[in-house]
Amino acid sequence: MSYKALYRKWRPEVFEELMGQGHIVRTLKNQIAADSISHAYLFSGIRGTGKTSTAKIFARAINCLSPHDGNPCNVCEVCRGILSEQLMDVMEIDAASNNGVDHIREIRENVKYPPIKGKYKVYIIDEVHMLSAGAFNALLKTLEEPPDHVVFVLATTEIHKIPATVLSRCLRFTFKPLSMGEIKNRLATICHSLDMACDDGALTTVAINGEGALRDALSILDQCIAYHPGELTYENVIEVLGSINEDLLFQMADHIAEKEPLKVAQLLQSLYLEGKDMKQLLSDLMKHFRWLLMASLKAKVEGWEAMPEAKRMKLSLQAEAFTALQITEMIRSMAEIEFSMKRSAQPYILLESGMIALAAHVEEKPAARERAAEVTQGVSTPRKTDASKMEERKTEKTQEDKQQAKLETKGPEIETATGNPSATLETVQQQWPEVLERMKMDKKASIQAMAREGQLVALEENTAILGFDSEHSFHCSKLDREDIRSYMSRLLKEVTGHSLRVKVRLLEEQKPDIGSKQNQIKDQLKEAVPEDLLEIIEEE
Ligand SMILES: Nc1ncnc2c1ncn2[C@@H]1O[C@H](COP(=O)(O)OP(=O)(O)O)[C@@H](O)[C@H]1O
Ligand SMILES: [Mg+2]
Ligand SMILES: [Zn+2]
Repeated sequence: MSYKALYRKWRPEVFEELMGQGHIVRTLKNQIAADSISHAYLFSGIRGTGKTSTAKIFARAINCLSPHDGNPCNVCEVCRGILSEQLMDVMEIDAASNNGVDHIREIRENVKYPPIKGKYKVYIIDEVHMLSAGAFNALLKTLEEPPDHVVFVLATTEIHKIPATVLSRCLRFTFKPLSMGEIKNRLATICHSLDMACDDGALTTVAINGEGALRDALSILDQCIAYHPGELTYENVIEVLGSINEDLLFQMADHIAEKEPLKVAQLLQSLYLEGKDMKQLLSDLMKHFRWLLMASLKAKVEGWEAMPEAKRMKLSLQAEAFTALQITEMIRSMAEIEFSMKRSAQPYILLESGMIALAAHVEEKPAARERAAEVTQGVSTPRKTDASKMEERKTEKTQEDKQQAKLETKGPEIETATGNPSATLETVQQQWPEVLERMKMDKKASIQAMAREGQLVALEENTAILGFDSEHSFHCSKLDREDIRSYMSRLLKEVTGHSLRVKVRLLEEQKPDIGSKQNQIKDQLKEAVPEDLLEIIEEE
């Protein structure tokens, strides 16, 4: 017997077997009970959440000769005909491979004829967003005046690509990503029926990696069974998933954090030569950075707690090397690389150059001041790729802009260093990166992470003012503690030799474009972070 993938073997056959979509099932069953079937449905939602399965159950349910409680019996002549795909009353069309006008015209020709055995002719058009503009137009004509015996079920993962004219003619249902609990339940049922022992950690890990798509979780389960038949343990799952290499992801992120574009390129190269799937690698990297983002925001999203403690710690530690915004920018850059790879005959080159640029780009934030200080002091870094040189120029420029902005914001205050004649704002600013460095050495990473979002903006009466713009008010308030301020003051003394107190202060928004910049950042975050997480950011 040929092997049948779990996700096909376990396709739900009645509504009750469909998990997590109760709201949809209820409505469809009500319609069936009231015998008021719509002529066009649109199912949207991420892959592997039951759209096709629901369409198939529904198609049988409305044609079944002896339905029970809105469900198809799955044994009558019509049900069997549909299940075996012999009965042409139910047609499944994959728009991804049949996206032309001709195909839709053919459907239009066909809808005229009544069903053969069932009550309705059902056209299930999967991935309907792939239809060409012409095909959509042709489809629209049919949707405008469908014969009574015709039902369309359109399914898509990308509802935003569906023309409004089509949307307005369909009854729409949104399929939810399945919760981890739902996925785990299903996995447990399947393991049980396969007489396979499974531990909770294993189920959780598979479920997490399904990311809301039951089909994906089942595919992972399939792989695990293939590697280790008979038993599903946490270690086995990690090993199977780990073949896509957790350690390498941490390594790659380390190289990026350490601003080592060359090492990034070398690691990529070695994986490429080993024959690893580069698209998979990039997608794993994106997921890794998403976890870093969650770690950075301390957001306990679904799946976080379920990860092994050691991995959570590693993630939290690594996240400290970045700001949340940097991570979102990196995820966005990787998405761009991914997109461009799809369209290129040279995907590897795009991946390589994109990742090099990304690793070089990371310098802009925390290290910018250090780098700029080096530049002003005429010290150059030993190792430089073209990319980092390019970035350096950009960094210098940013630094200039920042200086400029500071001058504009603070005006004459800047030169008011008094009391300690040899401490000037300029020299203290120059040595500030050293102070940040000390924090790191003291293992005060979180203080360092917050402090580096601020800028030394003034010296007032033996007091160094660490200013934060309004985007970083959170950081500002966290640092505004006596013990932290005196710690910083001690470091300043050690590094600069001057006794200076430290005050943290929120900078006023004087420049009209700060608001719009904030919005811009918020927009960027919105694109990179799921909606519900944004609230967390705003809370801060
Ligand atoms: N909501 C669900 N309940 C039960 N099984 C599901 C569900 N969603 C997906 N599956 C599993 O994944 C497989 C593929 O689901 P499918 O209906 O094709 O998803 P979609 O069309 O949304 O991509 C199914 O055969 C089933 O094994
Ligand atoms: Mg589908
Ligand atoms: Zn039946």
